[in-house]
Amino acid sequence: MNLQFNRHRRLRSSETMRSMVRENFIRKEDLIYPLFIVEGENIKKEISSMPGQYQFSLDMLEIEMQTIIQLKIPAVILFGIPDHKDALGSEAYNDNGILQKAIRQIKASHPDLLVIADTCLCEYTDHGHCGMIEHDCVINDESLELLVKTAVSQAKAGADIIAPSNMMDGFVAAIRAGLDENGFENIPIMSYAVKYASAFYGPFRDAADSAPRTGPSDRKTYQMDPANRLEALREMQSDIEEGADFLIVKPALSYLDITRDVRNNCNLPVVTYNVSGEYAMVKAAAQKGWIDEKRIVMEQLTSMKRAGADMIITYFAKDVAKWLNED
Ligand code: PBG
Repeated sequence: MNLQFNRHRRLRSSETMRSMVRENFIRKEDLIYPLFIVEGENIKKEISSMPGQYQFSLDMLEIEMQTIIQLKIPAVILFGIPDHKDALGSEAYNDNGILQKAIRQIKASHPDLLVIADTCLCEYTDHGHCGMIEHDCVINDESLELLVKTAVSQAKAGADIIAPSNMMDGFVAAIRAGLDENGFENIPIMSYAVKYASAFYGPFRDAADSAPRTGPSDRKTYQMDPANRLEALREMQSDIEEGADFLIVKPALSYLDITRDVRNNCNLPVVTYNVSGEYAMVKAAAQKGWIDEKRIVMEQLTSMKRAGADMIITYFAKDVAKWLNED
């Protein structure tokens, strides 16, 4: 027989051979770990739809920080859950708000850890929307003013990076101008540039107590339609022009094509957010013994890198760091 074909299996013959030709890797440096901070004392409350993830009060946070530091995770992204919510989300821009206190506390003990502040109003508003509501609509330009105040207050508290997730138009331009005017021209903006109106955020809204309660029943007038691809490039373009330093694509797994599009069309660092629903699905199946959690998680995160992500925000960050340290 004189067949002509390629022998791809030559490069798969052993683990040594495979590791030599491997194209993509997860590194600890890629990981960003989300944390939920609540008012009160002695609270470490597991989030029922996110097994292994907790809401922490400030006094319980330091123990968790020790673990994060030991695992050499380089960055955390913080979400604050205030006691008091109102129509204008005023605790978001209170210099003594829960997030500001958490930032100060973490930076005081761990100056080298990068602290990223999520800049949004939905955890702070009584209606649960990411901006102000007027006549049952989430209004854009007035909301920007509150978001700028929030970002500046977070920067004043010591945040290393501002990560606005609210999806109002012009939020990067407004926050950049606000930061610059207040002497924070060196604080980068990690923009949730491409954020879809996704059902995969369900468990997060339990964790952050941020589901829409009054006004529109969903976020579809400001977050993107999952059916759209070109719109992602328009969102990306606007945020680049407005001065974003990093671009986030969110969620991760159903949007790997979008991460690839963004990667191919810009030269900023690209971040993907492996969101709460993606975490919950893996955890649920793993608890049932239906899947191999470690292999599934590493395969999923590797696929995000392969799609073009430079960094990954993930609730699995501690597990992944542990696994990488073991190997
Ligand atoms: C705030 C925000 C959300 C997430 C991150 N920032 C929720 C939302 O937009 O409803 C979701 C994160 C996750 O699901 O893990 N706007």
